[in-house]
Amino acid sequence: MHSRRSISTRINGQEVRVEVSPRRLLADFLRHDLGLHGTHVGCEQGVCGACTVLVGGAPVRSCLLLAAQVDGSEVTTVEGLHASGALAGLEAAFHRHHALQCGFCTPGFLVSLAGAHGLDEAEIRERLSGNLCRCTGYQNIIAAVREFAGRDA
Ligand code: FES
Ligand code: FES
Repeated sequence: MHSRRSISTRINGQEVRVEVSPRRLLADFLRHDLGLHGTHVGCEQGVCGACTVLVGGAPVRSCLLLAAQVDGSEVTTVEGLHASGALAGLEAAFHRHHALQCGFCTPGFLVSLAGAHGLDEAEIRERLSGNLCRCTGYQNIIAAVREFAGRDA
């Protein structure tokens, strides 16, 4: 029997103090406890990138982290990035280039690519390599990110 653990974190700029099970995954905490359903869960083993969020500004797989591990950290989900306007250019580029079909992978791509301004082609492909899409064949996503990165405006 594990006792619950008290954590204090900032999620999308809001202070959150809660008790969580020591085994609660960050992805489940965000989706089920906080209702932040933009964080998707695909493979649950760190491969697909659908669950990507920022912790301390760095992209991480929320299916591989425990909620207790973000105690004292700043977490930003796709909802927080959207609300801040940080995704506006990237979302517009995805829209223009039809860079999604079912959309399941899209939040993870957006979070991973939010800071992609100024990346060169190799850096774009490196950044994209952490996210899987089963629908698009990637070409439209690459076109959108190129435009957003200022490589193909
Ligand atoms: Fe986390 Fe696939 S659900 S990487
Ligand atoms: Fe369907 Fe990427 S748009 S998985």
